[in-house]
Amino acid sequence: MSQEDKKKRVAQAAIEYVQTGTVIGVGTGSTANYFIDALAQIKHRIDGAVASSEATAQRLKSHGITVLDLNGVDSVSIYVDGADEANRHRQLIKGGGGALTREKIVAAVAKEFVCIVDGSKIVDILGRFPLPIEVVPMARSYVARELRALGGNPYWREGFVTDNGNVVLDIHNLDILEPVKMESEINQIAGVVTNGLFARRPADILLIGTDEGVKTLR
Ligand code: 5RP
Repeated sequence: MSQEDKKKRVAQAAIEYVQTGTVIGVGTGSTANYFIDALAQIKHRIDGAVASSEATAQRLKSHGITVLDLNGVDSVSIYVDGADEANRHRQLIKGGGGALTREKIVAAVAKEFVCIVDGSKIVDILGRFPLPIEVVPMARSYVARELRALGGNPYWREGFVTDNGNVVLDIHNLDILEPVKMESEINQIAGVVTNGLFARRPADILLIGTDEGVKTLR
C-alpha cells in the first residue's frame, strides 16, 4: 500500500472519534487534509471546527464546514492532526508545515488528541526529523546560538513566515532522549515562541497506518 493510501486510511479511521454535537480541532498537513475531506461527509454532525492554520481554515471552509474562533468556544472535544515523528510513548515532533504554535494551542485545549500518522513516522528516539522552532524574528541568531550550545545544528527556514508573523529554525542532529525536559528547556530561551516537541502534552491516541491496517496506540 502506498504512503498516501496509508494516510487516507488513518485519516478515515479518526472519523470514529468525532463526537456528535461538539466542536472539534483540526490540524495541518497532508494527513490532516485527508481527515478534512473525510469530515466533510459527516459535517452536519458537528457544531464546527477550530483550525490550526489559515490553510486548514481555507480547506474546511471549501467543504462548507463552519470554522470557529477558539476564543469563542467553551470546549473542544478532540483534536485530530498528523505528526512528523512519533515514539511509542505518543510523544511527537510537529511543525514540518510550520503551524506548530497554533497546533500546540488547539491540542492543549482539546480534551483528547488523536494523532494520525503513517508507519514511516514511528521512531525509537525523536530527533531524526529536524525539530522546528518558531522564533520572534529579531531573536533568530540568538536562539540559533543557544540551540548550537545544546548540541543541535540550526537551519533558518528562509523565506517562510508563520501565520503569526514569525520565523522557523529547523534543528538538525538532536538526539532527544528526554523529550519532556528538552521541550521545557527550549521554551525557556528568550525569543522562542514554540518548539515542535509535543511531549508534555503527547497524543492520547496514536493511529498508525500500516500495510496490515490501522493500529491504535493508547
Ligand atoms: C504541520 C505539522 C504536520 O502535522 C506534520 O508536518 C505532518 O504533515 P504530513 O501529514 O503532511 O506528513 O506538524 O505543522
